[in-house]
Amino acid sequence: MKQVLIAGISGAIGHALAVRLLEQDPGVSVVGLCRDPSAVAFSEDYSGRILLVPWNAADSCSAPAAAEKLKAVLSVETGLDAVIYAAGILHGPGMAPEKRLEDLDAQAIAHAFAVNATGFAMLIQAMSPWLRHRRFKRIVAVSARVGSITDNGFGGWYAYRSSKAALNMLVRNLSIELPRKYRPLACVAVHPGTTLSPLSKPFTRSLAQLRVHQPEETAANILSVAERLTEDDNGTFLSWDGSVIPW
Ligand SMILES: NC(=O)c1ccc[n+]([C@@H]2O[C@H](COP(=O)([O-])OP(=O)(O)OC[C@H]3O[C@@H](n4cnc5c(N)ncnc54)[C@H](OP(=O)(O)O)[C@@H]3O)[C@@H](O)[C@H]2O)c1
Repeated sequence: MKQVLIAGISGAIGHALAVRLLEQDPGVSVVGLCRDPSAVAFSEDYSGRILLVPWNAADSCSAPAAAEKLKAVLSVETGLDAVIYAAGILHGPGMAPEKRLEDLDAQAIAHAFAVNATGFAMLIQAMSPWLRHRRFKRIVAVSARVGSITDNGFGGWYAYRSSKAALNMLVRNLSIELPRKYRPLACVAVHPGTTLSPLSKPFTRSLAQLRVHQPEETAANILSVAERLTEDDNGTFLSWDGSVIPW
């Protein structure tokens, strides 16, 4: 993995993924997408190996605009070895995980779908010219175990769960279509494990019984899963320890 694109590089997991990639291999370059690149900081040791490009998952013009900017600095012939989608939303202004039907809000659901699911598909569409090379490529959508339909025995969190289930379906669809044009590749959904981050922070009390990872551990776990991927893993939903999660 020499050329890696990370969407959501401003997030706890996205940032930790970038730092780990840059730290472990001086030959790696990272393209990071986020809404506000000026709010993201990296050590000067990595200057020249990290490019930040503005992108908003909820804006349908944003992925093509990011691709235009990328074209100026990374040729499509050089290509991307990995695309990691680490953007996601669980709560925010006007948006909180729903406990019951009465809590559902159409705008909040639409926004969750835009960021957690649609943004991923539109990004892969925009970045597909960089996937034409013949090296093995990894497309990793950071999903969530709560997006598993089979695993849902608890209910609630309607917008988040259903948008992650939609993300999972997009991964599965792309795992069928992409190899026709861009083989060899593996397109997978990965549950990162519960991780301390702004996304999980409001739930730290209910997380007390769960194993909670630091973002650096999660980054190491996701990259270990990504590095071990082969074409046989294409179209699977994997947990941070490499085990398979039922869709
Ligand atoms: N933390 C956990 O326990 C946990 C568990 C399961 C799955 N996950 C998944 O892991 C991924 C990363 O989460 P995290 O824990 O690192 O949370 P985080 O620190 O809150 O990061 C969320 C990221 O999503 C980005 N984002 C939100 N809305 C966006 C938009 N409209 N356009 C572009 N980017 C947007 C944020 O960018 P801004 O800086 O611009 O807001 C940020 O980069 C998410 O997909 C999440 O669902 C996390």
